[in-house]
Amino acid sequence: MADRFKANLQGLAANKTIRSAVIWMFILLATKASLDGLYGIGVHQGYAPEQPIAFSHKLHVGEYEINCAYCHTGVYKGKQAGIPSANICMNCHNAIKRESPEIQKIYTALENDQPIEWIRVHNLPDLAYFNHAQHTNVGGLDCTNCHGEISNMEVVQQAKSLTMGWCIDCHRETNVNGKDNAYYDQLMDAHTKTAAGPMKVEDIGGLECARCHY
Ligand code: HEC
Ligand code: HEC
Ligand code: HEC
Ligand code: HEC
Ligand code: HEC
Repeated sequence: MADRFKANLQGLAANKTIRSAVIWMFILLATKASLDGLYGIGVHQGYAPEQPIAFSHKLHVGEYEINCAYCHTGVYKGKQAGIPSANICMNCHNAIKRESPEIQKIYTALENDQPIEWIRVHNLPDLAYFNHAQHTNVGGLDCTNCHGEISNMEVVQQAKSLTMGWCIDCHRETNVNGKDNAYYDQLMDAHTKTAAGPMKVEDIGGLECARCHY
């Protein structure tokens, strides 16, 4: 019985068609597995780490309507939005809810001269260049385009994939913001003379490798 089974197997292995079918199946499965792996590398959509202090955007922004730039002071001016130092918290918490154990953690950080160790949520690889002011100030985009509804979040979550494809898709679809921008006025005049549709980020170089990589 076992011998006959073995003979059958050898017969199968000897059959060219079946052998190449098995090899192809293997190659396809291996390719799919590695592609899935590649596309997944470095993509952290949905990442929402627990933070050292239970700071809530829903409370501070959703309820008390504190402006994003009050804490993220660089967001309209520079590359980085920035994370607020404990001193900014103290503008209010030297008076508000001092007795709360979560607020006491801010006091402890300041007394020990240690920064609060917030865990970074969004993180592009070093090879990519991203500038906030270019998008918020010049481009006129709202934070929600890229960060989702932060004002509803108890814990910040990465809402978008932050992949190269995500950046490129938006540059293909989004019109350049020409409001109050004399430099773009001229570009746009030139554009409308020669092109059918409105001027997209793509048309000012937004798909060029060197704009995002150096
Ligand atoms: C009172 C101060 C304060 C205000 C106002 C505030 N934030 Fe924050 N934000 C923080 C702190 C502190 C952190 C770090 C802890 C955390 O992730 O919750 C943070 C983290 C973030 C992060 C994640 C940063 C990372 O690590 O990648 C984003 C995005 C963000 N804020 C967007 C916003 C937006 C958008 C608004 C306005 C709608 C806003 N914040 C208003 C204090 C503030
Ligand atoms: C502009 C004023 C303001 C600033 C700045 C501010 N907060 Fe608050 N925070 C509040 C108010 C108002 C409350 C709600 C207090 C209440 O429930 O009575 C609050 C509540 C909190 C609570 C909840 C405390 C509890 O036990 O209920 C935490 C935690 C907190 N803040 C952390 C922070 C941190 C960390 C920072 C700095 C990154 C910060 N806050 C900056 C106004 C502020
Ligand atoms: C066009 C997309 C886009 C818009 C619009 C945008 N952000 Fe970001 N934001 C990003 C990306 C991408 C990162 C990660 C940057 C990195 O890792 O270098 C980031 C990171 C951050 C961080 C982490 C700290 C830092 O400086 O990198 C904060 C805080 C933040 N954004 C707040 C804001 C706020 C507040 C607004 C609106 C006023 C805003 N962002 C608008 C894409 C955007
Ligand atoms: C929600 C749409 C959106 C997303 C997502 C987005 N961008 Fe942009 N980007 C814009 C707009 C709009 C401009 C044009 C700003 C201006 O008028 O100069 C721009 C301009 C730029 C420029 C300057 C291009 C030039 O030719 O002057 C760079 C560089 C850039 N973006 C990088 C990135 C990177 C890197 C990412 C992804 C991490 C990204 N962007 C994601 C909308 C977006
Ligand atoms: C609008 C911005 C933008 C443009 C334009 C752009 N890239 Fe990227 N690229 C990114 C971002 C952001 C990442 C990191 C996220 C990721 O890996 O998807 C990246 C990642 C990469 C990587 C690393 C991929 C990986 O899996 O680690 C390579 C290689 C690359 N880009 C090459 C290019 C080339 C070549 C071009 C021009 C044809 C180009 N990029 C144009 C934003 C851009």
